[in-house]
Amino acid sequence: MDSEIGKIIDGKSIAAKIVSEIAKEVKSFSKDFRAPHLAVLISGDDSASRVYVRSKIRTAEKCGIKSDLINLPFDIKESELFRRLDELNNDTNIDGILVQLPLPSYIDPKKVINRISPYKDVDGFHPYNLGRILEGDPLFVPCTPLGIIELIKRYEVDTTGKNAVVIGRSVIVGKPISMLLADKSENGNATVTICHSRTRDIKKILRAADIIVCAVGKAEMLTGDMVKPGVVVIDVGVNRVKDAETKKGYRLVGDVDFESVSQKASLITPVPGGVGPMTVAMLMGNTLKAARLKYKK
Ligand code: GUN
Repeated sequence: MDSEIGKIIDGKSIAAKIVSEIAKEVKSFSKDFRAPHLAVLISGDDSASRVYVRSKIRTAEKCGIKSDLINLPFDIKESELFRRLDELNNDTNIDGILVQLPLPSYIDPKKVINRISPYKDVDGFHPYNLGRILEGDPLFVPCTPLGIIELIKRYEVDTTGKNAVVIGRSVIVGKPISMLLADKSENGNATVTICHSRTRDIKKILRAADIIVCAVGKAEMLTGDMVKPGVVVIDVGVNRVKDAETKKGYRLVGDVDFESVSQKASLITPVPGGVGPMTVAMLMGNTLKAARLKYKK
């Protein structure tokens, strides 16, 4: 499918470029101050979470960012987790704190996120940081929406006055990316529609879309017949589907049926290799930003 190469948004190579740009900045920052320092907390045995966390730690190393992987007991009490977070909040050597989700089901993730200092909240999940996006003055933006905006910027996608449709209304992707695309800013100024499970006649809305961000977690739900020619498609989904022909017994697919949608799109992110690597790269950028926040006004 050679004709499609020009239209594939290569998140993997852009993320690698960003990581090397951040590594340079970290080197210079570390000379003047010290290496940025990230604490990653994980509890439970979710295999996907372990894979994500390993990738975050490995990328931090590439950037010259110090990181601590804190393995919490599987049966950790909420009060003990809060105590650990308070310690990290008060530790002037720690710049960024990330609690990998999901947590064990008896712990309320909202309460945990609330406990992290908003100035160390490199995931951008704290209500303070989400509120700053609403204000149009973001501090830490969640890494996935930030990565999407960065892809849009680097591929010079014109968003001004365009119809952007976001499918999915999650707090960490759907809502923030909608706000950012609608914002009065260089990569914003779009007319944004948020679609979800209760949306009526989604096809009609999608066929008018110049840009579609699909973040619902449903394998290959967006198909070619639902989009108009020339659309820009950003696929946030990572879904495991059974595949007996692979070693692991599954393969990863997005929320977009790449085969049919790529026939019509002018630009499209693949899964894997699209948004995923960008999310990790943005986390590194947020960690450097958190360190800078401490030393510079
Ligand atoms: N679980 C899945 N994605 C994420 C993420 O971006 N941050 C955290 N903390 N947990 C996650």
